[in-house]
Amino acid sequence: MTEVDTTRQPGRIPAEHDGGAITLDGVGAGEPWAQPFDAWFHEGAPNPLHDHSAERQPAPCAMIIFGVSGDLTARKLMPSLYDLFTGQPLPDGFTIVGVSHRDWTEEMFRERMREAVAENARMPVNPESWEPFARRLQYVRGEFDDPATYRTLTERLGAPDLAVPTQGNRLFYLATGPAYFSPILQGLAAAGALERQANYLEPTQGWHRVVIEKPFGHDLASARALIAEMAILLTERQIYRIDHYLGKETVQNVLAFRFANILFDPVWNRQYVDNVQITAAESIGVEGRAGYYEHAGALRDMVESHLLQLLTVVAMEPPAFFNGNAVRDEKVKVLRSVAPPVGEQQVAAHVVRGQYTAGFVGGQAVPGYLEERGVAPDSTTETYVALRLGIDNWRWSGVPFYLRTGKRLPRRVTEIAVEFKRVPHLMFQTMVGLDLPPNVISLRIQPDERIAIRFAAQGPGARTQLRTVRMDFLYGAAFGEAGPDAYERLLLDAMLGDPTLFTRRDEVEAAWATVQPILDVWSAPESPPLFPYEAGSWGPGAADAMIERDGRAWRRP
Ligand code: BG6
Repeated sequence: MTEVDTTRQPGRIPAEHDGGAITLDGVGAGEPWAQPFDAWFHEGAPNPLHDHSAERQPAPCAMIIFGVSGDLTARKLMPSLYDLFTGQPLPDGFTIVGVSHRDWTEEMFRERMREAVAENARMPVNPESWEPFARRLQYVRGEFDDPATYRTLTERLGAPDLAVPTQGNRLFYLATGPAYFSPILQGLAAAGALERQANYLEPTQGWHRVVIEKPFGHDLASARALIAEMAILLTERQIYRIDHYLGKETVQNVLAFRFANILFDPVWNRQYVDNVQITAAESIGVEGRAGYYEHAGALRDMVESHLLQLLTVVAMEPPAFFNGNAVRDEKVKVLRSVAPPVGEQQVAAHVVRGQYTAGFVGGQAVPGYLEERGVAPDSTTETYVALRLGIDNWRWSGVPFYLRTGKRLPRRVTEIAVEFKRVPHLMFQTMVGLDLPPNVISLRIQPDERIAIRFAAQGPGARTQLRTVRMDFLYGAAFGEAGPDAYERLLLDAMLGDPTLFTRRDEVEAAWATVQPILDVWSAPESPPLFPYEAGSWGPGAADAMIERDGRAWRRP
């Protein structure tokens, strides 16, 4: 393995972290499926899982949700499972076992889940559709650090009276805080409920998989420690690290837009692109999640995960196949080419962090971050980040990627905008329309999912008058139906054993390596300032100044 020059950009993953243990496909050596070409190609053949004409019905399985009394289960997991179940793709042998410390009976558990589903599912809840689903729900009460919990669970999973036969297939979902990841995995392994399955293609007694929620680590070192710990208990092929942005249909549509059309790729590079702006604006505040958010902040919560995932889909090279290894190999390559700002000066110049103060969002008065419940009165947690990254590779060298995200911005909008260079010579210079804005392709991820192309046109009238116009493609209008929630897609993929839309361990490491130099500077005593911004504004003025120094401006989506 060749040495990587880590002195210039300490954010990069040094060669030793490729571990020598990482093979061609970026996973641990010694796992059968990681063996050089055969196994890679096994996944390299055109993938029926992504052929929508093919049946996408998973094998029977038990899904065991840890943290089933939590917010994620109520808002996302249970409603998505209900929608999947009601929409028919789930097999007869499918059952859900919820685990939590709450002193609930099975009846109480089912009732709570019914309320959550009624509030958050796409499909209506009525007795005919709810009852068959409710019969699949079981509850195990227990503390996550108590071995008895796992004994009870194992008995339940092996019990002949388990609602339906699951063929020994188990999908464990860790919907808990990160502090519980390790105790749960250790507890399951000790009770024999979770097996390390080297031969994932032919497990002897059904497959065992683990879906793990973010945050996957708190920084590069802790992410690596978690990767190492999980690798002892599980093969990489059994682990499904979820980033729900990848389950969003519009994010997958970026891949379709780029790689199922010949039109755009020829201009998708440094010769034609001036800059790329990725915005994930939220109008909500911290929403009662201060306990988590105070230790995370916007850089960890949004940039390390969702925004870098958006960056990879917009910047990656075309994979040869749409499957787990081919797609993730390309994503990892992009992440490893990202040049983050390093050191105090670069971080101060290219990264801006902010925190919202009281203001108005959507006409409502809202408190500042420091007034939110559970937030320390002197908290320095950032609720806004804007940064500039470079990608040092053949396609993108010299093109800045501007990323920004924040809470309590004027509206919820997630967008990737590719701004093109100006034409090399404007023959209309002596006529009206001198300052012609450049072409832009904007990919609106949410809401009002759309793709828009901005270009110049001749306006009506006898004289030459250039105008900027927009050509819009709206998903809702074109396809006439709303797509499934991201979790529906991802839960089904995990049951089917398709890891394409989950983050592989080398990808997680590369993402943390990108933000680590910023975390380092921010944690130093003389760190750059935290700028206040009023709730309902587009963030601190310092973020505008940052991009203006490059002669550019943020888009107002
Ligand atoms: C989560 C973050 O991962 O994503 C939240 O923890 C954030 O802070 C959320 O609000 C945004 O997701 P979405 O799908 O609403 O854009």
